[in-house]
Amino acid sequence: MDRIRIVGGNRLHGQIPISGAKNASLPLMAASLLTDETVTLSNLPHLVDISTMAHLLTELGVHIEMDGEAPNGGHAGRALALTAKKVTESTAPYDLVRTMRASVLVLGPLLARTGHARVSLPGGCAIGTRPVDLHLSALEQMGAEIEIREGYIEAKASGRLQGAHIVFPMVSVGATENALMAAALADGVTVLANAAREPEVADLARCLMAMGAEIDGIGTDTLRIEGCDSLHGIHHPVIADRIETGTYAMAAAITGGDVVLRGSRLDLIEAIADVLRKAGSEISETAEGLRVARSNGPVQGVDVMTEPFPGFPTDMQAQFMTLMAVAEGASMITETIFENRFMHVPELCRMGANINVHGASAIVRGVPRLSGAPVMATDLRASVSLVLAGLAAEGETVINRVYHLDRGYERLEEKLSACGAEIERLKD
Ligand code: UD1
Repeated sequence: MDRIRIVGGNRLHGQIPISGAKNASLPLMAASLLTDETVTLSNLPHLVDISTMAHLLTELGVHIEMDGEAPNGGHAGRALALTAKKVTESTAPYDLVRTMRASVLVLGPLLARTGHARVSLPGGCAIGTRPVDLHLSALEQMGAEIEIREGYIEAKASGRLQGAHIVFPMVSVGATENALMAAALADGVTVLANAAREPEVADLARCLMAMGAEIDGIGTDTLRIEGCDSLHGIHHPVIADRIETGTYAMAAAITGGDVVLRGSRLDLIEAIADVLRKAGSEISETAEGLRVARSNGPVQGVDVMTEPFPGFPTDMQAQFMTLMAVAEGASMITETIFENRFMHVPELCRMGANINVHGASAIVRGVPRLSGAPVMATDLRASVSLVLAGLAAEGETVINRVYHLDRGYERLEEKLSACGAEIERLKD
C-alpha cells in the first residue's frame, strides 16, 4: 500500500489548481440515468470515487466515453459523456456500494426512470452509522414501495413517481439529491422543505434545469420541482471543490504561506474563510481564484461548530483541528453532523497535539510545534488533516493508508510540492 512521506517546515508559496468537486460530480453522474440522451460533464476530478461511480453506471447500462489526456498536465479536469440509452440493469451491488456510500445516489434516478431499483444498503462507515431512512421516506412519499430484503433496498413504483410535499426532519445532502433527481421525472410538483443548501445540491439542480426540469428556490432550503415526462441531454461543467479549496487554504495558514487557489470562489467557502480570518489569515478574491496568506503573527485559536451549509462544513473539521493544534490559545471544536468523526485526534496527539474530546466537542490547546511521526488515517478528511500536520511538523511524517486520500484529493503530492512542500509518495 502506498504511503506519503512529508518533511515539514516549508512555507507554501505559489498556485494550486482546484479540481472539480467530487461531491458535485457523483450526483451529476447519477443524473445521467434520468435521460436517454447524452449528459456530458466536464471539470470532473481524477479520483477513485469518480471511477467507482463510472463503474457502477456502466453496470447499469450507461455507456461512458472519456476524453483523452486533459490539457495542462491533466489539471484541467476530465470530461465524461454518459449515455443511458437503455437502463439494462437495476441493481447496485454490495461490492460497489460498500466501497462508496454515494452509490446510493443511483436509487432515485433508477426508480424514476425504470420504476424499480435494487440498491445495496451502504451500512455504517468509519465516521458513523449514516442511515438512509430519509432517502427512503422521501421516495415513499412520492409513491414508491420500498422493502429491505437480504441487505438490499428494493424499490418499485407502479407508473411514474408522483409529486409530493416532503419535509425533511433533518438536513441531508444525499437525501435531498436523491429526491431532487426523482422529482425531476415525477408527475406533478414536488416541494422539498428543509432541503440541503450545499453548493453541490445547487449545482445538481442547475444541471436538472438545463435538462428540462423546472426548479425554483435553488440555493434555499425549499426547492420546488416541476417534473417532466422526459429530460434531455446537456453539457455541464462541475463547480470547484470547496473542500479541496478549504484544505489548501488551511495548508497555507498552517505553514505561514501565501498561495493562490486557482479556479475557486469565495462564495463557496464563506464560513471557512470567516474562521480562517479570525485565526489570522488573509483571504481575498483575485482574477485567478482565491489568495490565502498568513504573514503576521501566530495562528489564533477560534471555536467552531460544524453545521449544514452555509455553516462550517463537517468535511473541514479535521483539517481545522490540525490548524488549531498549533494555534496560540485554545479552541473548542464541536461536531454536530457525524457522531464518530474525531478519529484523527489520537494520531494528531501522537504528533504532539494537545486535544481532549468530551462527547461531540474537542478542546484543542495549541502547542508551539508538532513533531513528525508515522501515522495512519481512517477516512478521507482525517488523512488530509495528517498531511497538514506533517507540513507544519518538525521532521518526517509518514502517512499510511493513502488510499483514503486518493478518494478525494487529486494529485495532492504534486500540487503541494509545486508550492515548495517536501512531500512524496512512497510506492510499495
Ligand atoms: C454528504 C457528503 C459528505 C459530507 C456530508 C455532510 C457526498 C457524496 N458526501 O454526505 O462528504 O460529509 O454530506 O455535509 O456528497 N442522515 C440520516 N438519515 C439519512 C441520511 C442522513 O440520519 O437518510 C444523517 C447522517 O447520518 C448524518 C446527517 O444526516 O448524521 C447528514 O448526512 P448527509 O447530509 O446525508 O450526508 P451524505 O449525503 O451521506
